[in-house]
Amino acid sequence: MDYTQLDNKLKKIAPFLNEDNIYKKDYLDHLNVKLTYHSNAIEGNTLSELETALVIDEGIAIGGKTLTEHFEAINHYKAFNYIFQRVKDKEYLGEIDILKIHEFILNNINDEKKGIYRDLGVRIRGSNSIFPNYAKVPTLMSELDSWLKANQNLHPIVLASEAHYRLVSIHPFVDGNGRTSRLLMNGILMQKKFPPLIIVKEDRSIYLESLEQKRLKDDSTLWDNFIYQQMDKTLDYFIDTAKDFVEEY
Ligand SMILES: Nc1ncnc2c1ncn2[C@@H]1O[C@H](COP(=O)(O)OP(=O)(O)OP(=O)(O)O)[C@@H](O)[C@H]1O
Ligand SMILES: [Mg+2]
Repeated sequence: MDYTQLDNKLKKIAPFLNEDNIYKKDYLDHLNVKLTYHSNAIEGNTLSELETALVIDEGIAIGGKTLTEHFEAINHYKAFNYIFQRVKDKEYLGEIDILKIHEFILNNINDEKKGIYRDLGVRIRGSNSIFPNYAKVPTLMSELDSWLKANQNLHPIVLASEAHYRLVSIHPFVDGNGRTSRLLMNGILMQKKFPPLIIVKEDRSIYLESLEQKRLKDDSTLWDNFIYQQMDKTLDYFIDTAKDFVEEY
């Protein structure tokens, strides 16, 4: 796949992807809430973007929503902040970070299983994908860690999307695999000076379909195209945000 056009788009905003500009506290929080809202909505959380912001920013409880949905908002927000910090001072994101992200994701929701690999089989409703036996998970995760370490020179979009794919294919946790994988992908992207990919809730079915196709038919076309389109849209969003900081945009 040719990423030249995306690389060129990135060049426009790369100088602003820092804490003086697009990652300034207010903007970063806004971005974090957006990512939190969409990632959780993909998973089935029914809070709106505004409600997600109220829960996170004001600690306001939303009537009629479950306690779990509230924790999911707070947890994802904290996990993103954790990864954002990690990006700044780490060589590469690996297994330890994956476990840590997961610990945030299931905090107060399933404390016995947070940051712990599964000890049972998993299936995805509506999917024909089969996942590895739980006994193999620790080995597969350690292999993923080595793979991440050895492949830091891949194009950032390839490295990040492949990491996402490989992690959901292992499905190491009882729950929270998707959210953890999307955060890992975004950590890698930010580390490589790309913006985090905003996979919007509206694209949920094509997202799942392209993962399924890559796994079942061993055909990466749909997945690669999906990631490409999402990054293209994401870069447009960030170019738009950059307008707040520089007049010529
Ligand atoms: N066919 C598939 N093969 C591998 N992974 C898949 C497939 N279909 C979906 N997935 C991934 O698995 C995730 C669902 O797994 P899980 O319920 O553990 O994660 P979650 O974080 O709780 O929910 P979600 O990922 O929906 O937010 C999906 O989001 C997606 O990333
Ligand atoms: Mg789930």
